Amino acid sequence: MARGTCPFDPAPELAELRREQPVARMEFPDGHLGWLVTGYDQVRRLLADKGMSSRGDLLRSPIPLPMAGDRTEVAPGMFTAMDPPDHTRFRRRLTAWFSARRTRTLEPRLVEHVERYLDDMIGSGGPADLVGAFAEPVAALAICELLGVPVDQREVFVRGIKALFTVHSSAAEAIAGWQEIGGLLAGLVRAKRVEPADDLLGTLVTDGEFTDEELATVGSVLLVAGYDTSRNMLGLGTFALLEHPGQYAALAADPGLAANAVEELLRYLTIVHAGSIRAAGTDLEFDGHRLTAGDAVSLSLAAANRDPALCDDPDRLDITRTPVPHLAFGHGIHQCVGQQLARLELRVAFESLARRLPGLRLAVPADQVRTSPEMIIYGVHELPVTW
Ligand code: HEM
Repeated sequence: MARGTCPFDPAPELAELRREQPVARMEFPDGHLGWLVTGYDQVRRLLADKGMSSRGDLLRSPIPLPMAGDRTEVAPGMFTAMDPPDHTRFRRRLTAWFSARRTRTLEPRLVEHVERYLDDMIGSGGPADLVGAFAEPVAALAICELLGVPVDQREVFVRGIKALFTVHSSAAEAIAGWQEIGGLLAGLVRAKRVEPADDLLGTLVTDGEFTDEELATVGSVLLVAGYDTSRNMLGLGTFALLEHPGQYAALAADPGLAANAVEELLRYLTIVHAGSIRAAGTDLEFDGHRLTAGDAVSLSLAAANRDPALCDDPDRLDITRTPVPHLAFGHGIHQCVGQQLARLELRVAFESLARRLPGLRLAVPADQVRTSPEMIIYGVHELPVTW
């Protein structure tokens, strides 16, 4: 996906569009003439608009994805591609598991994991790859423990996610990746029917509201959505803090700033860089434009989060900024269900990192850090650091 010359910036064309045509016509890779929305206010209002649909059979990807041409029926349980009331049926059951109150109970375990991986990394003497030694295992453990997926099976889903999220994968590779993850989850659902467990999957199995097929999909979606995002926010977020003079030092001087830093990094980096996709579910008028039912709409969360209408000097990373209502988790009924978990993981991780390694710095020149514009979730493949 196109990015700016600075690894932290979205493509400059998006800023130009946002200034001149915050709601613009855009040709999608399959030739469909749809819309691209880049203004903060417009993205937010459209994501909350009941006339907009997430129905899988209507959606078209704004980037040439491996499975984008495959607009087949939506798998049972694929709630991300449903409208109410189908979407509500799944979302209602998940909300309690991801509430701020329940998420807070996970903090002591998370702190334990974070400290342990930092002990190991520091013990290695450095330099180290912060992604492999810290971001990846922390993100994997957090979501695996919550769902009830054995973390020692992560090789399977990590391979699957890589195939699924790489823009250059062939359709066959992406489908095989998804099936591999689905197979793992289907096996776990079967096992939890025989031997009940009190994790998220086990509880949903016992609830009896969903079929095994639906549950395998719900579990796969949560695993995929929860793993790669946290891993990349930790890796890319650390890179951004180190590359912006004074930002990492400010956090090291006051690790209590971590919650603030997390909000600002989410806004500034907007790792879901392809944004949200929707379709007009019905004919609708929007800011003088006529959207026809079935029109595909790509909503750029990255452009919206750098809109001067959202905050002063939006292209500046400033972790002391009072948090602003950014759209890094999307907006409306499909807004990220795991956002409180993500916030907790990131706050705990950045707080401990800055407290224990105040002298952290890159171990290679910044232009040698491999970023991942080819992935659906933006981030860094590795982050060589020393301290
Ligand atoms: C670390 C940072 C994270 C970011 C930046 C992020 C971002 C997003 C965004 C932008 C959306 C909305 C997509 C849309 O409008 O179509 C979304 C949805 C979602 N996220 Fe996250 N996410 C993060 C972490 C997580 C975690 C930890 C989980 C845990 C399971 C998770 C699970 C989900 C799910 C299931 C959805 C779909 C919700 C629905 O369709 O109702 N995310 N996320």
